[in-house]
Order: sequence, then structure tokens, then C-alpha cells
Amino acid sequence: MIRRLFYKKRKFFDDDFDWDNYTADSYHRRLKGDVETNYRTISKAGQLQFDAATGVVTSIGDPIHPNQHLILEAIGQLAPESVHEVGCGAGDYLANAATLFPDLTVTGGDRGTTQLDLALHRHPQLAGKVGVQDITMPFSRHWPRADLVFTKAVIMHIHTAVSHFVALTNLVRSARKYVLLAENQQCHNFVRDILALHEAGHFEWDDLHLYQFDASTGSPGILLSREELDLPPLTSDAQIRANVKPSLRRLRRSDDDSARALFGFSKSG
Ligand SMILES: C[S@@+](CC[C@H](N)C(=O)[O-])C[C@H]1O[C@@H](n2cnc3c(N)ncnc32)[C@H](O)[C@@H]1O
Repeated sequence: MIRRLFYKKRKFFDDDFDWDNYTADSYHRRLKGDVETNYRTISKAGQLQFDAATGVVTSIGDPIHPNQHLILEAIGQLAPESVHEVGCGAGDYLANAATLFPDLTVTGGDRGTTQLDLALHRHPQLAGKVGVQDITMPFSRHWPRADLVFTKAVIMHIHTAVSHFVALTNLVRSARKYVLLAENQQCHNFVRDILALHEAGHFEWDDLHLYQFDASTGSPGILLSREELDLPPLTSDAQIRANVKPSLRRLRRSDDDSARALFGFSKSG
């Protein structure tokens, strides 16, 4: 508890949480207390509808979280055959995606075994589809690859050394077509860091197109695509932060994190 009080003051060279104790320390309480009191987290067949003409997901009955709209609408509009979620936590996003899009192949990874236990407890149908994965480790050929790889509230919490750069690079390498980031846009200079990684040759993809993908609820996502899409190009962090109240603490930490990158060898060199 005392450590949590000092969290806002300390210099940020650590991730935001101790992931080994995260389920009991924080996640389970927040899921029950904050999320499930306001939103339906697990949807059964028929409770969600996707309208292909408008690209909008509608919830029948209780509302779903704006980030659920973001992920599900991206899946509906981009129509991948497979999705992989990194940092899948309780597994609700994957389970709901599989319910809404029954032909979709879903997999998920998380570094927390207690998080994966929670996911399997809530969604026994995910057995065999989720597994241990630390996205800041060197890339593993055993990790699932998918057309669309997404994260929600994962990379924003990673601040150890250059780990978030490694994570972004691994996400791109895991994705055949798209990476979608549903993250707090002030917790890293996502656009600056992604463009710098691409420019410096760290991404497996030759071509990168960066877009802002807005859910019907207004929730903004960062979409990396191998191919050009008919979406608003994303060129700066200021653009995706346009409607949020600045947090100087977060923005300063983002700059500290970005400054840790070391790039060299130009393309022609
Ligand atoms: C804030 S929770 C979000 C969970 C889930 N995406 C959601 O929105 O409910 C962050 C999740 O990322 C996982 N995580 C943290 N660092 C990770 C890493 N390096 N690789 C994979 N998962 C990680 C944590 O264990 C946790 O489940």
C-alpha cells in the first residue's frame, strides 16, 4: 500500500505493477468494482450485434465498455480471420470477439499465470487458446501469429528500460496484417516511438501505415497496418491526444521512456 502511495512520485524505470501479484493486488478488485458495476463484461450470443454497413457494434441490454466497442468494431471492419490479444487478462475481449464473430480464430497471451487462471475460470472455452507470453522477451517462434494482434491497457503500463520498444516490435512481428493498440495515449509517445522504430528498421514489415481508429463511442485506437486503408492517417501524438486533458506526469514519463531509445545505422548505410 505504501509503495502504491509513492508510485506517483517515483522516477519511472519500472512497470506500473508487480505483475506476479497483479491479479490479487489490483486487477480482480478493479474488474469487479469499477468495470462490472457499470458495464456488461461477458456477452452471450445475441447480446452483441455488428452492423457491417455502419461498422458499429450494438449491445442489447446493458452497455459494454467503450474499449469493447473499439476492439470489436475494429475486428468487424477489418475482418481478420484470426486475432491474438497480448495481455489478455480476464479474457473477456477474446471471449466476446469469439461470440460475436464465430468464424474468428482467437488466441491470447499474458505474462501473468494468475491472470490466465482467471481467464480460464471466466471462459472455460478458451482452454488451449491462451498461454504464457511475455511480450518484452525476445521473440519466440512458438508464439501465436494472427492477422490482427491487439493490446488493451498493456503497453501503457510497461516502462522498464526499453521494454515497450521491444514489445511494439514483437507485436508487429506477430501480426500478419494489423496491430491495434487500445492504450492510454499519454502513457507513451506511441506515435513518435512507432515511427522511430519503423524508420530505424526494427519492424518486420517493410511498409507501415499508421491510423487513428475511432470506435463509434469515440474511444480512439492506434492502428498499424501493412496496407493502406481508408482511415485518417495518424502522424503525431498531439493528434491522438487532442481530446484528453494533459497529464504532465505521464507526458514527462513518456518523454523519459522515448529518450531511452538508441537508434543507429541508416537504411542506406
Ligand atoms: C491492465 S491489465 C489489462 C488486461 C486486459 N487487457 C483488460 O483490458 O482487461 C494488463 C495486463 O497485461 C499483462 N502484461 C503486463 N506485462 C505484460 C507483458 N510483458 N507481456 C504480456 N502481458 C503482460 C498483465 O499480466 C495484465 O493481465
